[in-house]
Parts: sequence; structure tokens; C-alpha cells
Amino acid sequence: MFNTIKWDGDSVILIDQRILPSKEEYVICRQTAEVAQAIVDMVVRGAPAIGVTAAFGIVLGLKESGVTDVDKARLRLLELVELLGSTRPTAVNLFWAIDRMKRRFEILAPLGVKMLIEGLEREALDIQREDIELNRKMGLYGAELVPDGSRILTHCNAGALATAGYGTALGVIRAAVDSGKKVEVYADETRPFLQGARLTAWELHKDSIPVTLITDNMAGYLMAKGKVEMVIVGSDRIASNGDVANKIGTYSVAVLAKEHGLPFYVVAPTSTFDLSIGSGDEIPIEERLPEEVTHIQGVRIAPEGVPVANPAFDVTPNRLVSAIVCENGVARAPYTESLPQLSKEGQAA
Ligand code: MRU
Repeated sequence: MFNTIKWDGDSVILIDQRILPSKEEYVICRQTAEVAQAIVDMVVRGAPAIGVTAAFGIVLGLKESGVTDVDKARLRLLELVELLGSTRPTAVNLFWAIDRMKRRFEILAPLGVKMLIEGLEREALDIQREDIELNRKMGLYGAELVPDGSRILTHCNAGALATAGYGTALGVIRAAVDSGKKVEVYADETRPFLQGARLTAWELHKDSIPVTLITDNMAGYLMAKGKVEMVIVGSDRIASNGDVANKIGTYSVAVLAKEHGLPFYVVAPTSTFDLSIGSGDEIPIEERLPEEVTHIQGVRIAPEGVPVANPAFDVTPNRLVSAIVCENGVARAPYTESLPQLSKEGQAA
């Protein structure tokens, strides 16, 4: 089994998701600037995985600074937060993890720098460990929604590679398989970064879960032919009304699912909920470099100079979302009621 993110006490070690599946190589980040660049370049990607990586990035930055008093450490923390918070704007898990580290910093500050950094290291490790636990819980809730024999379409990669391990959408699929159900997965290739073709296909194939790769424009055909029973995807940010930001193309799949009367399920931990915003209109959508569209794996496929749009995410409106599975249960419409309720349950536990 691979580790998406590994912490060895002095560095963050990331499986290089830019070159999978042709090569399984690891990038070693010894400084926070390297961590930030790895997030920007999508060495590591997927909302929960970005959050975990940033938490380790903060620990690394405080360790490498060599600061000996808490006030200087706090100033350094602000710089680190600024750097890591500017990497990718859409996945709210990044900001959730940073805020959790900031809160922990203030709790530990009276203990002095040494114990402060040790405590923050433990906190980052907790965030990583808890992420896998939450994925397993979501897996159990979500698997109940999957009848035996289901053919499931997924978009992008919401698997072990997008999290600390196990996955959200793919976690549900893994849990369904573990409970003895037979499922088949259609993986959208997910242009332009090809998370589906390269990462989801790789992960599922490795686990011997039946997966068939399709290009993004084949989903409607398969649904019309009655070959898909449901769609399961992950998310980068969920607004309080249940609007869901996820990888570009998710919205198109949701519209197709509605047209064909198929359930469209979203699986995400409560750290992906952004209850501070009223709707998906407030979610910042990352625009990435044109080269991701004009080139495939470094080979130009479009004419020089052609204008390009490259929004990395879209927003699926809540009316197209059949249910949202989180670690505390399954939320259904009206989401303005069910999402705060499920978040609260987690806090009470
Ligand atoms: O640009 P990416 O690869 O980071 O986008 C990832 C997604 O859109 C995932 O579906 C989402 O982060 C959920 S991952 C559990």
C-alpha cells in the first residue's frame, strides 16, 4: 500500500500525483515553501489531503525557523499561514486545517516554544489519523446507499490519494465491497489533469475493484443505455444550502444524473462544510494555467495563442444533490437544516 502523505519528523513525503501511474515516486519537502509549491503544482491534491499537508507544512516552518520565543513563533506562524493559505483557494479543508493549527497554537503557547512545536506536530498527526477514521465512518454510512450489483459513476479522484487514506467517494465504494456487495465503477477521465484516468483507475485497479475508464463525454451515453445506477463524488467545499463545489465537470454529471433519474451522492467530511456561506455563489473557483488545457502530459494539442479557460472546479446546485454523506450521517434536503445538525452532532460527540 502507498502513503499519500508521510511525516518523518523533519520532512513531508508526498507521493507524486503528477506522474502516477507511470511512476511511483515520492517528493520530499524539507521546507514550508516546498510544501506550498507541491500543493500549487498538485504533487498532492484532493481537499482533505491538501489540509493534512498544510498542517505538516506549519510544523515544518516552525521547526526550520529555529525561533526560541513564543512571540517570534507567532509571527512566523502568520507568515506560514499566509504562504500555505495562498496555494489553492477552493478546497475549504485547507483553511479548516490551518485554523485548527492556529487554535492549537494559542492553547499551547503558554507552555513555551519547545512544547508548542511538539504539540503542533501531534496535532498535525491527529488531523492525518482522524481523516482516515472519518473516511471509514463515511464509508459505512455511504455503503448503505449502494445496492448490491450497482454500477457507480465517479468523477475526478476522491480516493486514498485525495485524503490521508481510504478516500471519501472511493471510501464508500471500498466499504460497499468490504461488506460483500458487488459493484462496478465507471471512472470519468477528468480532463484536464486526468485524475480519473491516472489516479482513480490506478487506485481501484490496485484494489481489484472493477473499474472501467471512460472519457468525460461518455457519461450521458452510458446513463441513457441504463448502465449506471448512481453517481458518487467527493467535494472541495459545501455551502450551507447544500451547493457543492467539486472538480470541473461534476455539475455536468449531476445534470445528466437528474435527467436519467439517478441518485447523485456527495461524500465529504464536515471539514468540507463551509456553513459561513449561504450558497455556492460565494465559493472561490480556482483558475489554473492554460497549459493544462492546451497540453496533455507536456504535448501541445491546441494551436499557439488560442485563448483558454481553465476553471478547476464547478458548483452543483443543491437541487441536483440527492444526499450528502459525512462522518456523522447522511444529510438530505433541506440542507440548511440537515448540514448544521450533522456538524453539531460531531461537536457533541
Ligand atoms: O484539483 P484537485 O485534484 O485537488 O480536485 C480534487 C477534487 O475535486 C476532489 O473530488 C475533492 O477534493 C474531494 S477529494 C476527497
